[in-house]
Amino acid sequence: MRIDLLSIFPDFFTSPLDEGIIRRARLAQIIDIRIHNIRDYACDRHQMTDDRPYGGGEGMVMKPEPLAACLKAVPRYGEKHRVILLSPRGPCFSQQQALNYAGLDQLILICGRYEGVDERFTERFVDEECSIGDYVLSGGELAALVVTDAVCRLLPGALGCADSAEKDSFSRNMLKHGQYTRPPVFEGMEVPAVLLSGDHAAVDRHRFVESIRLTMCRRPDLLKGLELSREERKVLKQEGLLTQVEQMQARV
Ligand code: ADE
Repeated sequence: MRIDLLSIFPDFFTSPLDEGIIRRARLAQIIDIRIHNIRDYACDRHQMTDDRPYGGGEGMVMKPEPLAACLKAVPRYGEKHRVILLSPRGPCFSQQQALNYAGLDQLILICGRYEGVDERFTERFVDEECSIGDYVLSGGELAALVVTDAVCRLLPGALGCADSAEKDSFSRNMLKHGQYTRPPVFEGMEVPAVLLSGDHAAVDRHRFVESIRLTMCRRPDLLKGLELSREERKVLKQEGLLTQVEQMQARV
């Protein structure tokens, strides 16, 4: 997969894209990430990429020409590509959207700045807008990094181990259970005994129940989209949780 990031602050990306999982995925050629400086496509002497808004008002608006020229210079890769503008106006990014994006050949992420982007550019060139939450950032760069990270870890081979992306929170409308490592006793607190038992089925069951409890307590809204197998329903019944989970699922 290829991800192109268009920004007036290309240095923003250097360190985050050169660490950890993303770095490994880039080195393994699982993902090809290219950064483009919109300023390089500004046509005037001062390399201006923003200007005052028509009609007056606070702040500056990103000019359409440098954005369009920069976007046009990005080669299209594969058959399935999308041009996405990071902006607080878009629908909220989710694990489901990360999965959708991970199925594409190319994501072109445009980082807006200032008070916004000239609407004509968005209308003509942008397939969709994408927000990472109901708050306003100084620009789309951090949001583009969030999207890049969430997508990258879903690509086959990116995590190294076979299936840990599937066990992440949200991949099944459930929060992830707590995790423990050595030492077995920390400040008087013990690791749950079942995790030391070596009984894999008991460990899976314990983790599933803990995930459900955590989700019920912190994000009951997620339970609505959670489909439970017969075996899972049986476990929840034995734990005395099934009725409560079903009530939460039925709530509007
Ligand atoms: N740019 C500014 N705020 C943003 C947000 N919440 N999500 C995506 N892009 C943004």
